[in-house]
Amino acid sequence: MKTILAFNGSTRAASFHGRIIRTLPALAPADVRIAEFDLGDVPFYNQDLEGEHQPDAVVAMRAAVAEADGIVFAAPEYNYSYSALTKNTIDWLTRPMGAGALRGKKVMVISVTPGPGAGRKVTATISEILPFLGNEVISVVNAATIHEKLDANDTIVDEELASALRAGLAAFS
Ligand SMILES: Cc1cc2nc3c(=O)[nH]c(=O)nc-3n(C[C@H](O)[C@H](O)[C@H](O)COP(=O)(O)O)c2cc1C
Repeated sequence: MKTILAFNGSTRAASFHGRIIRTLPALAPADVRIAEFDLGDVPFYNQDLEGEHQPDAVVAMRAAVAEADGIVFAAPEYNYSYSALTKNTIDWLTRPMGAGALRGKKVMVISVTPGPGAGRKVTATISEILPFLGNEVISVVNAATIHEKLDANDTIVDEELASALRAGLAAFS
């Protein structure tokens, strides 16, 4: 059994990325388990918080990443780039330099938008930086008009999106 840890770069209660993360268990292969790490308690990166007394949420996040076989970044596109929350997560997980918990993990990047852009700018940006940080991006999924592709029960009603997510998750198997 492989464990894939998902991060949502939006803490908005009705976040589309949160809703997409909730669809993943039903789309994953039988040997892939999806866990979500709640970023709500992770503070902004500050080098003064490194060392012996790291924030509990950071310790928990690093431990969860260390135990995971792969990572999903569900990353909202803010102003053609990542949200501060997504960047903050990457920053914590790449410290100490060269030995961060994220190093060597396979990564799937997902971005969706209610508008027409499909989050392609942010997935391109994340896909560009992660290999430099020692990660292999194994799949990228984008979707525009996401409000039309999820029903009220958070089931994906767009077969193209469902099959792209299925294929992305299968790459972890
Ligand atoms: C500060 C901010 C900047 C945004 N910039 C973009 C953008 O550059 N491109 C885009 O397609 N959508 C943009 N959006 C719209 C987001 O894609 C949309 O709010 C999305 O639903 C955010 O993800 P969430 O639903 O998981 O919170 C922006 C939203 C915010 C709040």
